[in-house]
Amino acid sequence: MHIRPRRLRQNAPIRRLTAQTRLHPAQLVLPMFVTEADEPREISSMPGVQQHSVDSLRRAAAEAADAGIGGVMLFGVPNVRDGRGSGADDPGGILNRATAALAAEVGERLVVQTDLCLDEFTDHGHCGVLDETGRVDNDATLERYVSMALAQADAGSGLLGLSGMMDGQVAAVRAGLDAAGHTDVPLLGYAAKYASAFYGPFREAVDSALVGDRRTYQLDPANRREGLREALLDVDEGADVVMVKPASGYLDVLADVAAASEVPVWAYQVSGEYAMIEAAAQQGWIERDRAIAESVLSIVRAGAEAVLTYWAVELAETLNRGEEL
Ligand code: PBG
Repeated sequence: MHIRPRRLRQNAPIRRLTAQTRLHPAQLVLPMFVTEADEPREISSMPGVQQHSVDSLRRAAAEAADAGIGGVMLFGVPNVRDGRGSGADDPGGILNRATAALAAEVGERLVVQTDLCLDEFTDHGHCGVLDETGRVDNDATLERYVSMALAQADAGSGLLGLSGMMDGQVAAVRAGLDAAGHTDVPLLGYAAKYASAFYGPFREAVDSALVGDRRTYQLDPANRREGLREALLDVDEGADVVMVKPASGYLDVLADVAAASEVPVWAYQVSGEYAMIEAAAQQGWIERDRAIAESVLSIVRAGAEAVLTYWAVELAETLNRGEEL
C-alpha cells in the first residue's frame, strides 16, 4: 500500500500546512442591532448579542475594528413604526443616525454596512409596503428602497445590503443611487434568501411586528436551482456582491452560486444557527469553540468569501491568537 492519505494528518504542523481552507478576520462581518434606548439590552434568544444604544454601538464597533474584522452590518430598531416605514429614509431615523456615527468612528478601519429593508420600520413587519388587499406591493416597495438607499448613502454607509427580496431591487437602487451621484456605493444583493425558520431569534432582536410569514417573497427552502437563478439575476442587475442566506442549511446553493458567480459570494450565518450552537453548548452537549469554528469554516469551504456571523469578533480574536481551531 503506497497511497496513504493519513500522511498529511499525522501532526498539527503538517495539518496546518496542508489545510485547504483558511479563515481570516478580514472575511468576517458582524451584524449589529441599534435601538433608540439609552442603554444596551441583552437579546434572550441570542446569548452574548445585544440591542445596542448608539453609544454602546460605537464602543463595540471600535472593538470590532481592533479585532481586524472586515465590516459590520447595521440593523436599526426604531421606537415608532408605520405602514410605509417612514423611519427608514428619515435622515434622523435610528439606522441613519447610527450609520453616520459609526462611519465617523470606524469607517476608515472597516466597512460600515447597512441593511436595506423595510421590515424593522413597518408596523406590519413586512419587508415592503402593502397594497389594498394586504399583499406586499413589489413595485411600490422599490420606490421606498430607492429613497432608503439615498438616505443610507448620505449617512455614509460603505455598502448597502439589499435584504428585502423584491424583484428588481438591485437594478432600481443602483439606478437611483447613480442618478443622485452615489455611483461609488457598492450593493450587496441578498440574492438567495430563503423563507427560513432559522430567522426566529432575529425577530426578537429587531422586536419584529410580523404576523404570518414571508413566503410570497423569500425563496422556498425546497428550491436549489432557483437560488442560483436569483443570484445570477442580481449580478445582471448590477450587484457588486451576492449572498446566500441562511448558510449552514444551504451549502449546496452556496456552492452552486460560488461556481457560477463572477462577483464575490458571501453567506449569512443567521440568528437560529447561532442560537442552536449556543444553546447546545450551554447544556454541555457540544464543544462550543470548536463547533463555532467548524460551522464558519464549513461555510467558507462551500464557497463563501466572507461570512456574516454573530461570532465575528470572538472568532477574529481566536484567529489573531494563532490557536488551532
Ligand atoms: C429581513 C432580515 C432578516 C434577517 C436579516 N434581515 C429576517 C427576516 O426575514 O425576518 C435575519 C437575520 C438572522 O436571522 O440572523 N430584512
